[in-house]
Amino acid sequence: MSTNDPPAARLTSEKTLFGTLPNGSKVDKYTFRNGRQMEVSIIPYGGIIQSILVPDRNGQVADVVLGFDTLEDYIQPHPYFGAIIGRYGNRIAQGRFTLNGKQYQIPINDGPNALHGGPEGFEKKLWQTTPIEDSDSVGVELSYLSPDGEMGFPGNLTATVRYTVHPENELRIQYSAVTDQETIVNLTNHTYFNLAGAGSGTVLDSVALINADRFTPINQLLIPTGELLEVKGTPLDFTTPTAIGTRIRVDYPQLKYAEEKEGGYDFNWILNHPGDLQALATRVTDPSSGRTIEMYTTEPGVQFYSGNFLNGTLKGKQGLTYAHWGGFCFEAQHYPDSVNHPHFPPTELAPGEKYSQTTIFKFA
Ligand code: BGC
Repeated sequence: MSTNDPPAARLTSEKTLFGTLPNGSKVDKYTFRNGRQMEVSIIPYGGIIQSILVPDRNGQVADVVLGFDTLEDYIQPHPYFGAIIGRYGNRIAQGRFTLNGKQYQIPINDGPNALHGGPEGFEKKLWQTTPIEDSDSVGVELSYLSPDGEMGFPGNLTATVRYTVHPENELRIQYSAVTDQETIVNLTNHTYFNLAGAGSGTVLDSVALINADRFTPINQLLIPTGELLEVKGTPLDFTTPTAIGTRIRVDYPQLKYAEEKEGGYDFNWILNHPGDLQALATRVTDPSSGRTIEMYTTEPGVQFYSGNFLNGTLKGKQGLTYAHWGGFCFEAQHYPDSVNHPHFPPTELAPGEKYSQTTIFKFA
């Protein structure tokens, strides 16, 4: 070992009581540290990533994800801060789909559409926990059995999400699911990042790269039209690193569908290397702190959402409020409303098959 080698990482975990649900169930907070200044806290209610602490270029640590200090705040309506999304990420047009000739209806909760699995999605469930500890990671495995018919979806679906923290300042999320009846599934995580520190203002100066040449355009109700469009020549072109704010207000109709007044990003990008966990999917750098996040995923798409519906009224951790455009989400997933677009990568899951997804968030 040379004197330049970083000290061996010491992975540790800690469990503390976070709060108590109205039904009396205790909710713990699991905190994982990698000995290199990265610290991640997870709560099994909603499978929520409650905080991620990472150092800046000078070793100054900040919490880079939006969220709350108390369980009570997470029980109140909020825009899915840090939560696991299921059974179906993003929108299903009118909450309706057909499987094997049978029509299903998910309760609508976003205008005429169903969003993120309906009004009582995975973000409101208390997940079972099993600790994970091995030579190069520490974390927690969460599992939840969604009963047949829950939110209108067919089949008993057993979902598992493994969160692990690694020495290379990496948070890995491994999802899997099995069913006893043909169903549909599209899981993701809805963490809002602000690399300058949650509550420090907007993310407009953060510089983003999205390794995607195409996206799925939407109509006014944010439902994909079914086209696959080139990003070239549009404000959605992040194939070269560009500040999020550079083109967010330009007069491009799609940006106004995502946010009526001032514009915003809320689209599914079609990743150039679907299924390839080695290929960079997205990267964001905050020039002020030097913090960088990279995402790698096995999923074919990523919803890049620029926090358009945050409006400075929600009070988050340490009493800080979250500005309009105060956080960005990279939700690795299948395309929105895939179940109603047969030419999109399929989201059907049959008994005997296994849904799986791995997504990595790596900080530098
Ligand atoms: C959606 C947005 C929605 C947000 C909810 C995102 O995944 O694409 O349209 O407003 O979730 O917070």
